[in-house]
Amino acid sequence: MPFAGRLRLGVNIDHVATVRNARGSAYPDPIRAARIAEAAGADGITAHLREDRRHITDADIDGLMEALTIPLNFEMAATSEMQAIALRHRPHAVCIVPEKREERTTEGGLEVAREENRLAHFIAPLREAGCRVSIFIAADRRQIEAAHRIGAQVIELHTGGFCDAHAEGDEALRARELKALREMSAFAHSLGLEVHAGHGLTYDTVGPIAAFPEVMELNIGHFLIGEAIFRGLGPAIAEMRRLMDAARA
Ligand code: PXP
Repeated sequence: MPFAGRLRLGVNIDHVATVRNARGSAYPDPIRAARIAEAAGADGITAHLREDRRHITDADIDGLMEALTIPLNFEMAATSEMQAIALRHRPHAVCIVPEKREERTTEGGLEVAREENRLAHFIAPLREAGCRVSIFIAADRRQIEAAHRIGAQVIELHTGGFCDAHAEGDEALRARELKALREMSAFAHSLGLEVHAGHGLTYDTVGPIAAFPEVMELNIGHFLIGEAIFRGLGPAIAEMRRLMDAARA
């Protein structure tokens, strides 16, 4: 039986920090953004502490853990440094993402199948500490089965390929990407995994993904922070919330 309940919105605030760090200033403050997101109806805040600290910093994570009343989804690479930070903070959720220093953003899903043993050992202490462990992966059956075997409770499906195909007007590819996401969200749900999705979502692309009944949460950042320049952050988030609810109805 698919989930089809209220879809949660996780607002990713990384790019508030990107703007701040571009000038080495103290503003704009990601924690202020998180508070506004919370007031605008976000169900959670997502922040990615990258190994190179190019946007979110350790101090931002400290501040978020202190300030938030909604759950923090802490995105991180599967390194021992990040594991220690997560174990110190014990956020509500930890999302394991692949990380390459030269990439502009998280370009693909995590390769779980080839690293099953290492990842199983890596996530065990996080689970024991009470964090919900999520794995950011492509809509690929092999990777989903591996995520399930290693004991992840959640998978987040990478929607970047679908969003790129939409932006490029490649209808055939867009349809293929959407079909894979639809089928794999149902497959993951059938294994008992909680299904999230995100990356590159905009007002134009959120609808079809929000309509998948198995998806419980969307994590959206870059577009919302950009849209905030024109509408303000609260209204930009409220409009995303409205589109998600409309797609689900
Ligand atoms: N989900 C995950 C796992 C991500 O790594 C990111 C980007 O950091 C997002 C969602 C949000 O993507 P975007 O900023 O493109 O909305």
